[in-house]
Amino acid sequence: MKTANTIKEVRETVKEWRKQGLSIGFVPTMGYLHEGHMSLIERAAKENDKVVVSVFVNPTQFGPNEDLDNYPRSLERDTEICEKSGANLVFFPEASEMYFEDKSTSVSVSGLTTLLCGAKRPGHFDGVCLVVSKFFNIVTPDRAYFGEKDAQQLAVIKRFVRDLNFDIEIVGCPIVRECDGLAKSSRNAYLSKEERKSALILSQSLNKAKEALSKGETSANKIKDIIINSLSTEPLAKMDYVEVVDSLSLSPVENINAPILVAIAVYIGKTRLIDNFTY
Ligand code: PAJ
Repeated sequence: MKTANTIKEVRETVKEWRKQGLSIGFVPTMGYLHEGHMSLIERAAKENDKVVVSVFVNPTQFGPNEDLDNYPRSLERDTEICEKSGANLVFFPEASEMYFEDKSTSVSVSGLTTLLCGAKRPGHFDGVCLVVSKFFNIVTPDRAYFGEKDAQQLAVIKRFVRDLNFDIEIVGCPIVRECDGLAKSSRNAYLSKEERKSALILSQSLNKAKEALSKGETSANKIKDIIINSLSTEPLAKMDYVEVVDSLSLSPVENINAPILVAIAVYIGKTRLIDNFTY
């Protein structure tokens, strides 16, 4: 497995592979890799001849009061995990390699970003779309792999890829969870022992909603209430949002009669965690 810090090195390697007629899968990450990321890399390795992973804590997707400076980093461990999972090239750029100081171009997806995390983190998805479109132009993959854990991110990326005619297949991959149900996340590293226990309330409250849906509940408000009530039983949990939206347009629904996304964001202490399911 190769590692690269510059765009030039990535382009040279990719050019070589293209000459040999090889297909390329791409997994963008912010590092501090866990089994969720590994599942994406392993899937990419199964479906492509070569796999590129990027590890870059992208400053443009963090708000002024968010955790950019504290975001966990572990380059050595990440390199090992990439190699074990079947990556062929890991790209670790510095911010100065990725962004010109006087950059003036943005990539902004409207509509899909007005609710959920888009409403709570202004500018976040512009940062994600900018960095992902830059990576797509650098790596030129055939397929790119994203987790359903970040369901809104996946929908937004599919939309700009369609709208801007990127010739890349976007592959969504299922959420990987801890044995007790907590969705794996690099941010779980922030949780104290006590908070880690409390964080279970996210998947537990979603399970209650799923159960009600399977018993025939069709009111989005009732589903939201079930989740809100369940979250309120956990003293360390503070709801950021609970939404029931159409799974394609991400617009709110009242009566559930088409595929929906039930998505939540919850603060456990100072750590903001997200989880979701589609039904
Ligand atoms: P990051 O949070 O590191 O996640 C990288 C990819 O791993 C995303 O597609 C995310 O959905 C996926 N992922 C994270 N946890 C997962 C889990 N438990 N199960 C399955 N997949 C999981 O998302 C980002 O980075 C950034 O926004 C990025 C796309 C790299 C742009 O900077």
